[in-house]
Amino acid sequence: MKFVIATNNAGKLREMREILAGLGLETVSQAEAGIDVEVEETGATFIENATLKAEAACKATGLPAIADDSGLVVEALGGAPGVHSKRYGGGGLSEGGLYAYLLQKMNGLEQRSAKFVSSIVCVFPDGRLLSAEGECAGAITGSPRGSGGFGYDPVFQPEGSSRTMAELSPAEKNAISHRGKALRSFKEALRIFNGGKIMRIGILGGTFNPPHTGHIGLAKDAMAGLALDRLIIVPAGIPPHKDIPKNAPSAEMRLHMTRMAFAEVPNTDVSDIEIMASDVCYSVDTVAAISAGNPGASVYLLVGSDMYLTLDTWKDAEILLREAKPAVLSRGDDEARKISEYSHMLKARYGVDTEIVRNTFIDISSSELRAMLPKREGAGYIIDAIYAYIIKNRLYGAKPDWDWLRGKAYEMLKPSRIPHVAGCEKEALELAKKWGVDSDETREAAILHDMTKKLNADEHTKLLDESGYRGDRPGLGDEKLFHSITGALAARERFGVSDEVAEAIKWHTTGKPGMSALEKIIYIADYIEPTRDDEGIEGIDELRALAYSDLDEALALGFRMSIRDMRERGIEPNRTTYDALAYLTGETP
Ligand SMILES: [Fe+2]
Ligand SMILES: [Fe+2]
Repeated sequence: MKFVIATNNAGKLREMREILAGLGLETVSQAEAGIDVEVEETGATFIENATLKAEAACKATGLPAIADDSGLVVEALGGAPGVHSKRYGGGGLSEGGLYAYLLQKMNGLEQRSAKFVSSIVCVFPDGRLLSAEGECAGAITGSPRGSGGFGYDPVFQPEGSSRTMAELSPAEKNAISHRGKALRSFKEALRIFNGGKIMRIGILGGTFNPPHTGHIGLAKDAMAGLALDRLIIVPAGIPPHKDIPKNAPSAEMRLHMTRMAFAEVPNTDVSDIEIMASDVCYSVDTVAAISAGNPGASVYLLVGSDMYLTLDTWKDAEILLREAKPAVLSRGDDEARKISEYSHMLKARYGVDTEIVRNTFIDISSSELRAMLPKREGAGYIIDAIYAYIIKNRLYGAKPDWDWLRGKAYEMLKPSRIPHVAGCEKEALELAKKWGVDSDETREAAILHDMTKKLNADEHTKLLDESGYRGDRPGLGDEKLFHSITGALAARERFGVSDEVAEAIKWHTTGKPGMSALEKIIYIADYIEPTRDDEGIEGIDELRALAYSDLDEALALGFRMSIRDMRERGIEPNRTTYDALAYLTGETP
């Protein structure tokens, strides 16, 4: 909703626009609205005069119009100049002439107390009316000082100040002035008028690269500490010129992760306002946009203590701090003094109060996490859905935490199969050590090698279809054969394993000609791991001994045993196993 400001006084217009913009209201001047209304101020009170001006502007523009009528009330002069402040001395006097006339009237008077009074009236096109008042107490000086403000400002010294109104900065003046107060209480009136309670909105920015449980705890602390109705999470854009490390998530991925992180936290929204911007974003713009979308709301900008102590240097700090109150997230007493000193400075300079939110969240940063992830650490700091997403896409060079990976693999298995998979991991690791194969890849392959074993033919078919696999589909009864193929596809799709690991899973049942050392190890470990002893497989002791003395001999023996076993059970051995054996030894059993 746009409001027209019903005044032709340039000084008043500037002040009202500044204050109203700071309150998140969009305004136009009478000139911008294409009107030139000058109302005769015939009212006996400030509020009457303000109403006359607002009604006229509203009628002329069709927009809700806000007008102020204000004046100086001097006790010793029986309330004069009051509603006649502008026409004091009979009218026609310049600003300087007006206050000179006042000083002359007060010449020799001891009693100099006075107050500025402002009445704000807003008239809506449907005839409804809202009003608010503000006062600023002070005294009339003996002579004019200062060049700021307008009207009687150079001769009015607000209570508690050693300077006149004209010696204050615009921000200082707005913080204490009658008009500032009236406009702020007008905002409250507007909110009640709108039927809503006072919305308290927090803004929490960050790179969220990646979002972790500390961020979630922080959001909850802020919501509770500031009694927020809504917390808007704003993942920052990363400037396009900045070097983006390999494996870093795209902006969309970061947004997706942030949305996952806060999906379960009530009354939070994740905004893409900064992340989707093509250029550098400044907090002042983000805060202004959010304020504009929530007219009348109290907006809090949440900042960590390090950032808080630099607020003064942020772009357009004065505007920023008018749009939003700072809320500093403090970890504790160590920094309390610094924060307190800084908040006093902000108060003096910008008239803003700082809220302090006690930050009880765990002491971990995203950059620390990024360093942990490639070392298979940090899973405990990230919610499962995000960790799974990071692993699936191998963001930040992350490698899965072993316990996490086992948990994911085992929950897909029949409980009776878990000891076999655990045994296979152990055996494969021994073999990898013996034959100088990468132990991490070996472990990933061993843990995941049977992950789709429980699936039925339909489920295998679904997985094959989803991944665009072009080969055969399982028929009734031969689905067992497919668990190697679907296991490889799922390991890649869900856990982002390397091609080498996927291939080792793919060939662990049948073998193939020209296997890599990793593929051989998974094939053999699957055969000889300790729980196989219970199965009474003929020749397994020989195979186990060979596995540690000659890998290829062991592999050939494994193929022979597999072919023999299949034949004994009346199943046609896999063609690939024959080829694999022939490739190794030339034999065709
Ligand atoms: Fe298997
Ligand atoms: Fe297996």
